[in-house]
Amino acid sequence: MEKLKVGVLASGTGSNLQAIIDASLAGDIDVEVAVVVSDVEDAVALERARAAGVPAVHVPPGKYRTKLEPEIEERYVETLEEHGVDVIALAGFMRILHDDFLTHFAGRIINIHPSLLPSFPGLDAQRQAWEYGVRWSGATVHFVDAGVDTGPVIIQAVVPVRDGDTRDQLAARILEEEHRIYPMALQLIAEGRITVDGGRVSILKPRQATEPVRETTGEGRGA
Ligand code: GRF
Repeated sequence: MEKLKVGVLASGTGSNLQAIIDASLAGDIDVEVAVVVSDVEDAVALERARAAGVPAVHVPPGKYRTKLEPEIEERYVETLEEHGVDVIALAGFMRILHDDFLTHFAGRIINIHPSLLPSFPGLDAQRQAWEYGVRWSGATVHFVDAGVDTGPVIIQAVVPVRDGDTRDQLAARILEEEHRIYPMALQLIAEGRITVDGGRVSILKPRQATEPVRETTGEGRGA
């Protein structure tokens, strides 16, 4: 099977990036990480990419704190296109993406979020869940739309919140599941098994998969 070419955007530690790289190098998923782009020059994610022989590009974010300047967002598009990506995976990318980027890659951008969406969108979802006192939390891989953590849900994994847990213990339990389901979601896309109808994702059985990912577009966009 031809490999799905994934461009990863990451701002930080890149442990999800590493999980994707590891699964891809092990041949567990039909995915090639084609490029990693970061807004943070010394992001560990870029080091992880270089260590794995994956092109690692720093594109400075410009003058805003939470978003990219339009011309800079354009450079992100160009960089990803230069590397021929089919799908964009956000992995701890701390910038909100806007219309031009979202339209350019419509239906081909996914994100991982450390809660069971739609509960606890936004920053430090692990703390939000822990402070609320929920008994179960988890992780969500979803398509990206113009809202914050609102796009169609692809996969979720559930973890318990144990009595006496700290926020960090809960976050570590969730992260372990993130590392499991992010490669899994990419493999489903690589196999052409994801369809999106409105806000709802369906996962086809392997033999039903016919469409290559480039034509598997959903309306979804997320953050
Ligand atoms: C993860 O918790 C992910 O869910 C969130 O940002 C964090 C990134 O962690 N979107 P890492 O950089 O992949 O280690």
